[in-house]
Amino acid sequence: MHLLKDHGFAHPIASEITPQAVYAQRRRLVQGLVAGAALGALPSLSARAQPARPGKLAALPAGRSAVAGASTMDKLTPYVDVTTYNNFYEFGTDKSDPARNAGRLKTRPWTVAIEGEVKKPGTWDLDTLLKLSPMEERIYRLRCVEGWSMVVPWVGYSLAELIKRVEPTGNAKFVQFVTLVDKAQMPGLDGGGLDWPYVEALRMDEALHPLTLLAFGLYGEVLPNQNGAPLRLVAPWKYGFKSGKSIVKIRFVEKQPKTSWEVAIPSEYGFYSNVNPKVDHPRWSQATERRIGEDGLFAKKRPTLMFNGYEPQVGQLYAGMDLKKFY
Ligand code: MTE
Repeated sequence: MHLLKDHGFAHPIASEITPQAVYAQRRRLVQGLVAGAALGALPSLSARAQPARPGKLAALPAGRSAVAGASTMDKLTPYVDVTTYNNFYEFGTDKSDPARNAGRLKTRPWTVAIEGEVKKPGTWDLDTLLKLSPMEERIYRLRCVEGWSMVVPWVGYSLAELIKRVEPTGNAKFVQFVTLVDKAQMPGLDGGGLDWPYVEALRMDEALHPLTLLAFGLYGEVLPNQNGAPLRLVAPWKYGFKSGKSIVKIRFVEKQPKTSWEVAIPSEYGFYSNVNPKVDHPRWSQATERRIGEDGLFAKKRPTLMFNGYEPQVGQLYAGMDLKKFY
């Protein structure tokens, strides 16, 4: 099946282009911090052809985040890699498919329906959501279940800001995220092996955790379509697939919902999917990872950190739980 095949490892050629260095410099200037040596040496252009950037996207200015754990010291993954090595099966299962096919996705007008166990259900327009809370820049590691990781400067605010406004009832124990399904715009819906729409979910306390980000942009601009425009989730201590893209519905429910990957391959994907180097995927180890765009094909892998390095922030959420059982 396409899906299984694609879950093997197709490593990209590491990009030697470092737009993030330029970006880091710009950020330092903007923020009035001492400029570092980021622009010291721009390496020669990579042999890999530069894929078309989706033009200059609209700026999405953000303040620095005060959320603990939101800013790693890791080198940022180059923009070109963040936006051309993607998983977004609605646009195809190859890593390069989303950048190639998602351009046609219409991200305006866009609404997000709030349903279920809330005192204030309703429909939120994207422009209202954009203004709901001040935007913050959060540099997060994102670790994919396939064994690679990225470091991305996301722009958004804590999902908790929206949750507070819709006033969940006492019955709201889980939050489900339903993403767009539209045959006319998404050429991957016939393949991929998932039941559409792509659905993900978090336990209520995970959804309310300040690290859980509702992201509208990256690298200071609105999200490119292939990264989940116009809004997506980023839960950085969980494997990347928990972070649903192009969300159209947020549903508050009492019972733990099934997620797309659990339904597709229940023996391999559980509800929690916390990054955990001690619990292997049935078909491969999760002990190490390859950093996209930084490490060469033959470079040493780096050790995967418990909860992707966010254990001080989120470890308490799972106190006393058997993480081998609740994987
Ligand atoms: N959201 C939707 N709607 N469809 C998808 O196929 N893939 C997930 C997640 N969100 C996916 C999705 C997976 S497997 C990963 S690793 C991340 O998106 C990838 O996000 P990125 O391409 O921005 O790095």
